Amino acid sequence: MVTGASGGIGEGIALSLARRGCKRLALVARRRERLEEVAERCRAEGAEEALVVAKDLSVDAQCAEAVEETVKHFGSE
Ligand SMILES: NC(=O)c1ccc[n+]([C@@H]2O[C@H](COP(=O)([O-])OP(=O)(O)OC[C@H]3O[C@@H](n4cnc5c(N)ncnc54)[C@H](OP(=O)(O)O)[C@@H]3O)[C@@H](O)[C@H]2O)c1
Repeated sequence: MVTGASGGIGEGIALSLARRGCKRLALVARRRERLEEVAERCRAEGAEEALVVAKDLSVDAQCAEAVEETVKHFGSE
């Protein structure tokens, strides 16, 4: 799970992880369209799955939802 993945350092980390062989990524930030673009680029770099999780992490409930959606999608292994 990479927070702040829609730009800046977070985007760079997500792409670097994909390039280094990370197969499953959850990309979290508020701007869904930007996350979709980063997800597409992560897939192009080798990630099998790049899940877009559009949430405002300044809101406690949305932090919990981000984790729940990620675990539900990928399982808890
Ligand atoms: N750049 C540097 O050289 C540097 C050096 C040291 C420390 N830092 C720190 O590292 C952090 C990231 O820096 P950056 O340069 O990558 O900043 P940035 O380009 O502004 O990226 C910030 C990221 O955080 C996300 N974000 C902001 N508020 C959010 C919220 N409420 N909920 C969910 N996501 C949120 C933004 O996405 P959305 O707008 O889509 O939500 C974006 O993906 C900052 O705290 C910065 O102070 C940066």
